[in-house]
Amino acid sequence: MSSTDLVAVRFAEPEDAPEIAAIVNHYIAESTANFRTEAQTPAEWEHDIAAYGSRYPWLLATVADGTVRGKAVGVAYAKPWNARQAYDWTAEATVYVAAGQRGRRVGSTLYRELLKRLEAQGFHSVMAQVTSPNPGSEALHAACGFELVGTIKAAGYKHGEWHDVGIWQKILAAPEGAPAPTTPVER
Ligand SMILES: CC(C)(COP(=O)(O)OP(=O)(O)OC[C@H]1O[C@@H](n2cnc3c(N)ncnc32)[C@H](O)[C@@H]1OP(=O)(O)O)[C@@H](O)C(=O)NCCC(=O)NCCS
Repeated sequence: MSSTDLVAVRFAEPEDAPEIAAIVNHYIAESTANFRTEAQTPAEWEHDIAAYGSRYPWLLATVADGTVRGKAVGVAYAKPWNARQAYDWTAEATVYVAAGQRGRRVGSTLYRELLKRLEAQGFHSVMAQVTSPNPGSEALHAACGFELVGTIKAAGYKHGEWHDVGIWQKILAAPEGAPAPTTPVER
C-alpha cells in the first residue's frame, strides 16, 4: 500500500478501534468538522470496520517519527452515500488526522490511497460533506480533485452556531451505459 518516508498506510483492523475513536472524538468535542455531539465508543468503530471494511477500504496511517511512531495518526474510510441500490456506485468518503499531526501530508496520503482503491473497485463517484468553515478539509478535497457541487445552508447547529455543509463530489469514471457491480476490497 502507499507510503512515503514519513507516512505509511495500512488497512484498519477491529483492534484499531480505540485509537481511531481517540482521533475522531477529539474533533467531535472540539470542532464542527463532525456533527456528532457525543463521543463514539470503540465498539461502534469495531462494528463499522466489520460491517463496511470488505466493501469499502478502511485505511489507517502511521508515521515514522516522534512519540507516536507506529501508532494510528489518521483514518480514512468510505461508506454508502445512500443505502438505496441505484446509489451502489456512489461512496461517501471521510478522513481524520490526529490533532498534533495535521499539515504533514497524512490526510492527503490516506485520501489518495482511498480514492485510488475506490476507483479500482468500480465506484463511479465519491461524495464528501464538509462543514463550513473548514479550510484544511476544503483544501484537501480540492487538491484531490473534488468539486463543490452544492451547499446545505444552516445544515446543523453546534457550539452555539448554525453551520452550512458543502457537498463535494469527485467523479472517478465517466457514466457510460450499465455499470458492472463494484468489486470487494482487495487485500
Ligand atoms: C482536513 C485534514 C484531513 C487534512 O489532512 P492533513 O494531513 O492536515 O493535510 P495535508 O498535510 O495532507 O494537506 C493536504 C492539502 O491541504 C492543504 N491544507 C492542509 N491544511 C490546511 C489548512 N489548515 N488551510 C489551508 N490548506 C490546508 C495542504 O496545503 C495540502 O494542499 P496541497 O496538496 O495543494 O499542497 C486534517 O487537517 C484533519 O483531520 N482536520 C480535522 C478533521 C476534519 O476536518 N476532517 C475532514 C472532515 S470533512
